[in-house]
Amino acid sequence: MSQTAAAEKPNVNPKLATVEKVLSVHHYTDRLFKFRCTRPQSFRFRSGEFVMIGLLQDDGKPLLRAYSVASPSWDEELEFFSIKVPDGPLTSKLQKIQPGDDILLGKKPTGTLVHDALTPGKRLYMFSTGTGFAPFASVIRDPETYEKFDEVIVTHTCRQVNELAYSVEMVEGLINDPLIGEMVEGKLRHYTTCTREEHPTKGRITDLIESGKMFEDLGVPPLDPATDRAMICGSMEMIKDTAALLDKAGLTEGSNAKPAEYVIEKAFAG
Ligand code: A2P
Repeated sequence: MSQTAAAEKPNVNPKLATVEKVLSVHHYTDRLFKFRCTRPQSFRFRSGEFVMIGLLQDDGKPLLRAYSVASPSWDEELEFFSIKVPDGPLTSKLQKIQPGDDILLGKKPTGTLVHDALTPGKRLYMFSTGTGFAPFASVIRDPETYEKFDEVIVTHTCRQVNELAYSVEMVEGLINDPLIGEMVEGKLRHYTTCTREEHPTKGRITDLIESGKMFEDLGVPPLDPATDRAMICGSMEMIKDTAALLDKAGLTEGSNAKPAEYVIEKAFAG
């Protein structure tokens, strides 16, 4: 970046954020889009973590919100999956970004949807709704996931079928990926459900767990704390309801400080 460009951004504290370049933008629906941006060499994170990202406002002040990094920790670029809220302070502007635009990237990634917060197990579930799939887009592209688990099941529930496009495209891409394809083969399973449109599997993931249909569809035994680990990401209500079902099955919630059988993180939006 030229010194002139840096001089135009006097309000970005270099201790808190760096200025990165948008590399590509893809809109899936009128509510969802993804974008990729440059990653500074100094930016280190664990797959599944979130970071503050944002834009400079017209008055020169930064506006930052928490976003899960959707790319894995080995990727040279960073990827984010975002909702578009028409009157959202950040997403109303963020949805208009174009390749070449500046974006602010916080310096302190953190989060609990990481392998370090789970005790060893055989089967990893990742339960997501809407943009809650974002951290799992990172975790399912990380080789560590397949080193640690024999079976990796990522569920994604959306209101409409077209909102599943990002995760469907990602999982298909992974299976055909020359680098990761061999590693995910026979391990990675994708379970998509829709609540407000016709789809082969209809309904909330919580209802599908409770009725046993999810286990039946996947051909796996019911949740078992001896073998199963889980990560949950979605709205507060979705997390609460899903966590209650895991609690009932005997799994306990973990954290970075105290790893256990499942971890939660709210899907960020704004
Ligand atoms: P539903 O259509 O029945 O509300 P949202 O876009 O509102 O975040 O929702 C994303 C998906 O999460 C929707 O399919 C929605 O189902 C589902 N969902 C919302 N609340 C819950 C909950 N408490 N438990 C499980 N799934 C939920």
